[in-house]
Amino acid sequence: MSPEVLGRATASIQRHADDDRVIVGFQNSDDAGVVRLENGTCLVQTVDFLTPIADDPYTYGAIAAANALSDVYAMGGEPVSALNILCWPQGDLDESILAAILAGGLDKLTEAGAVLLGGHSVRDAELKYGLAVTGVIGEQNIWTNSGARPGDVLVLTKPLGTGIVSTAVKREACDSRTWDEAEASMLELNGASARRLASCEVHAVTDVTGFGLAGHAWEMAKGSGVGVELHVSDLPLFSNVRTLAAAGFVTGAAKANRAYVGAGLQAEGVSEVDLAVALDPQTSGGLLVALPERDAEGLVRDSRGWAVGRVLAGDPRVVLVSPVSAG
Ligand code: CO
Ligand code: CO
Repeated sequence: MSPEVLGRATASIQRHADDDRVIVGFQNSDDAGVVRLENGTCLVQTVDFLTPIADDPYTYGAIAAANALSDVYAMGGEPVSALNILCWPQGDLDESILAAILAGGLDKLTEAGAVLLGGHSVRDAELKYGLAVTGVIGEQNIWTNSGARPGDVLVLTKPLGTGIVSTAVKREACDSRTWDEAEASMLELNGASARRLASCEVHAVTDVTGFGLAGHAWEMAKGSGVGVELHVSDLPLFSNVRTLAAAGFVTGAAKANRAYVGAGLQAEGVSEVDLAVALDPQTSGGLLVALPERDAEGLVRDSRGWAVGRVLAGDPRVVLVSPVSAG
């Protein structure tokens, strides 16, 4: 749904986040909520579900689970338990498909070390599957999207392009190599990247999902009170993403993301293809991390991510820089 509509609606219920137990509410559009229990333990909670992103039902289930788990990792938490959410077009689809989706989700949860406690299903014309995930975290170890500091380097831990690739797949225009790369990436848990970050001086983290790199960078910029510069020529992409974007395989959500960042987006001299890539909504995308240069260099050296930009002083904004104008 449109981020603007959502923003207006959540603003109208802001008072519910005004409780001492709430460590991270929804004010800064963070990845997950965090609440402190009486014994000092903090719970991280999030929910995500999506329409089929892969033709194979098992793969779809596993990607949906990796996508839902990601928000817990993006806060620095460890997933503990989950509940399935299913919208099922009864009578229209074979039951074996349902079994495969649920098996994919469960296997991914198990890989993450979390347990499935149950779930809820409703009949719906369109198939949707995902999970509500609960994790735990120490109060001192919470990463938010609002601590980025001028001078920080931005590191992204997965390539971009899942929205463009899946749009091309739906129109049978995607080569198998590009799809295979996107599929493997969407199936990958962000847990390993999060654990690698634990040894870094992390200032801000978010995972790149529906709002695209530029949209999530915008939330980080607003939350942190800083500007964010993204170097479009340094963005890691699946093989043929630029070609597919140039051929017009761009999602409607990318347009909504552009409207969402609005005047906050500065993209002088940036090509439409680079814009499409920066605004492409991701499913089970990577972590976007703001951290000091020395830690960023370590991550890049260990092949744990790509340096994609830096944090600027001044008003919240997202500046896309193309190679020509990069200094
Ligand atoms: Co997120
Ligand atoms: Co989410």
